Amino acid sequence: MRDVSENAIALSVNGLTRRFGGLVAVDNVSFDLPARRLNAIIGPNGAGKTTLFNLITGEIHPNAGRVVVHGQDITGLKPHQIVRNRVSRTLQIKSVFSGLSVGENVRTAVMVHEGLVSPFRSATSYSAVNNRVAALVDQVGLTPHMHTLASALSYGDVALLEIALALANEPQLLLLDEPVCGMGPQETEQTVRKIREIAKTVDVVLIEHDMEVVFAIADEIIVMAQGAILARGTPAEISSSPAVQEAYLGAPEEADL
Ligand SMILES: Nc1ncnc2c1ncn2[C@@H]1O[C@H](COP(=O)(O)OP(=O)(O)OP(=O)(O)O)[C@@H](O)[C@H]1O
Ligand SMILES: [Mg+2]
Repeated sequence: MRDVSENAIALSVNGLTRRFGGLVAVDNVSFDLPARRLNAIIGPNGAGKTTLFNLITGEIHPNAGRVVVHGQDITGLKPHQIVRNRVSRTLQIKSVFSGLSVGENVRTAVMVHEGLVSPFRSATSYSAVNNRVAALVDQVGLTPHMHTLASALSYGDVALLEIALALANEPQLLLLDEPVCGMGPQETEQTVRKIREIAKTVDVVLIEHDMEVVFAIADEIIVMAQGAILARGTPAEISSSPAVQEAYLGAPEEADL
């Protein structure tokens, strides 16, 4: 069980702003995300969702604003320092070592994590690493594919492998950028089921385009448009919001009903 109090805040973003030339990709965004919830961020192309993740993980720096994860201000830290603060992410474009097996991919991530947390790697025994790899592969349901090359996996299984790699960091906050993008309905369902399970043990923030997925999976949804927060609420509140329908789905009268 996680040591999180009832009112704990997993992620707090305050006045976060990032400009690219004349474009304000993330425009004075503020929100608190409670722990133990599966939070989703949706919004049309170019809304600033991935940029928001890049700001949280230190890939890019904000022009203004703060990022606080479980009470720790991580604003301005370098990506590897933020990883050490136990924030993990997956990328919108899938990135695993295609020439390595599932087990080898996860082993690499575990070794990197061990190297980060302990300068005395030998303190972690070979069998402890093996156990950790087996547990992570099992957690995402890929045990039958332990020795399968990543290049031979289905698209859905690659996504699960990516999540296993992110979990190797023992994150307290896991950011998933469009984890079911490009998947068929069956793979989507399998991946969504796993994400729901994983969200019981780590705070998850999910960027997703597929509204059906978001409504099925999320406890709470933030809608971004043009760099700002347009709406926030439960799936029921968001799906009935005229402002969201207009910005995200197209104006109601234009919607393909
Ligand atoms: N490194 C960059 N340099 C310049 N402009 C950028 C950069 N990164 C993002 N942008 C711009 O910022 C805006 C927000 O992009 P972002 O990738 O955050 O959108 P998104 O909501 O993730 O969209 P999508 O749903 O298509 O993934 C876009 O107009 C994009 O072109
Ligand atoms: Mg994006």
